[in-house]
Amino acid sequence: MNSDLAVEVAGLKKSYGSFEAVKGIDFHISTGEIFSLLGPNGAGKTTTIEILEGFREKNSGQVTVLGLNPEKDRIKLKEHIGIVPQSGSLDRYLTVIETVTMYRGYYQNPMAAEEVIELVGLEVKKNERVLRLSGGQQRRLEVAIALVGNPDLLFLDEPTTGFDPAARRETWQVIKGLSEMGKTVLLTTHYMDEAEFLADRIAVISGGLIVAEGTPHNLGGRDKLLPRISLTYPRDILPPEELKSERQDNGDTVFQAEDLTSAIHIITEHAKANNLSLESLQIVRPSLEDVYLGLIGYNEDRDQVEEMSNAKPGRRTRRGSGRR
Ligand SMILES: Nc1ncnc2c1ncn2[C@@H]1O[C@H](COP(=O)(O)OP(=O)(O)OP(=O)(O)O)[C@@H](O)[C@H]1O
Ligand SMILES: [Mg+2]
Repeated sequence: MNSDLAVEVAGLKKSYGSFEAVKGIDFHISTGEIFSLLGPNGAGKTTTIEILEGFREKNSGQVTVLGLNPEKDRIKLKEHIGIVPQSGSLDRYLTVIETVTMYRGYYQNPMAAEEVIELVGLEVKKNERVLRLSGGQQRRLEVAIALVGNPDLLFLDEPTTGFDPAARRETWQVIKGLSEMGKTVLLTTHYMDEAEFLADRIAVISGGLIVAEGTPHNLGGRDKLLPRISLTYPRDILPPEELKSERQDNGDTVFQAEDLTSAIHIITEHAKANNLSLESLQIVRPSLEDVYLGLIGYNEDRDQVEEMSNAKPGRRTRRGSGRR
C-alpha cells in the first residue's frame, strides 16, 4: 500500500440483484486531499462511499482505505473515519450536547464536545433537543458527529443539503480547515460551487462509471474551452461581420473568440462607429456546471424525465445557455 494514498479503488463493482449500480470504477485519493464525487441522482456515489466505509459489500474489485480492507477491518477503520451519511439518523429526544457526548464515547482520541459544537456553529442550541432544531441545524449536528472522533478521513455525502447560503459558506470553511489540518475528505455534492470551492480533484460518475476526472479548473477540458462574449445589439444593427456570432433565443448575440483581445477590439470599434453602448457586454467562461452537464450527457432539448443515470456519458449537448 502506498501511504501517500488514503483511498485506493480498482475495478470496483456493485450490483443490487440484477441491477449493476457501480460498473467497474478506479480512483485514488491522496492523503490530505479533498476529493469530490459528482454525478446525477442514482449514479452510484452513495453506494461507492458506503463500500469504502465498510457498510456495504462489493461484488468485485479492490478497495483500500487508510491501508485497511473495509470489509475485514471495519472496526479498526471506524476509529479513523468520520461519516456524514446522506440521510442521518439523529435521536430526536437527545439534546445537541448529549448527542455529541454520546458519539464522543465511541472513540479513543475524541475532540472536546464543546469544541466540536462551536466548530459547527451550534453553541446557542447546545441544550436544545434535536426535534427542535431546523433541518440545516440538524445537518450541522451530523457534521459535528462526524468530526468528534478526530478522524483522519471524512466521508461527507451531501453535507450541506438544506443549508442556508451563509451556513454553507461557514461549513466550507470548516471543511477547508480540516483539510489544512491534514485530514482527507471525500465529498459528494450537487452544488457545483461547493465542488469548485472545496475540491482539489473531482471525479464525475454517471450510470455507475467514472466519465471524467480532473481538477475543477481542467475537468473535461474546461481550461481549453473558449470564453464567450455576449452582447445585446439593437434590432436594426448587425453585429460586426469579421466575427462569427450566433443570436440566442433571448436576443443576445454571442461570439466565441479564439483571440479575446482582437475580438474585443473589433466589438468596441464597431460599437463606437455605430454609437452603441456596451453596457450589456459580458465575457463568460465555461462554468463547472456547463462542463459537468456536458459530461453526464445532459441535453436541454431532450425530455429530462428520463432517469439521468441511464444517460450515455458524453452525449452531444448544447452548452452555455446560462441555465442555472
Ligand atoms: N439498497 C438498495 N437496493 C437496491 N437498489 C439500490 C439500493 N441502494 C441504491 N440502489 C440503486 O443503486 C443506484 C445507485 O444509488 P446511489 O444511492 O449509490 O446513488 P447516488 O449517486 O448516491 O444518488 P443521489 O445523488 O440521488 O444520492 C440507484 O439506481 C439506486 O436505485
Ligand atoms: Mg447518494
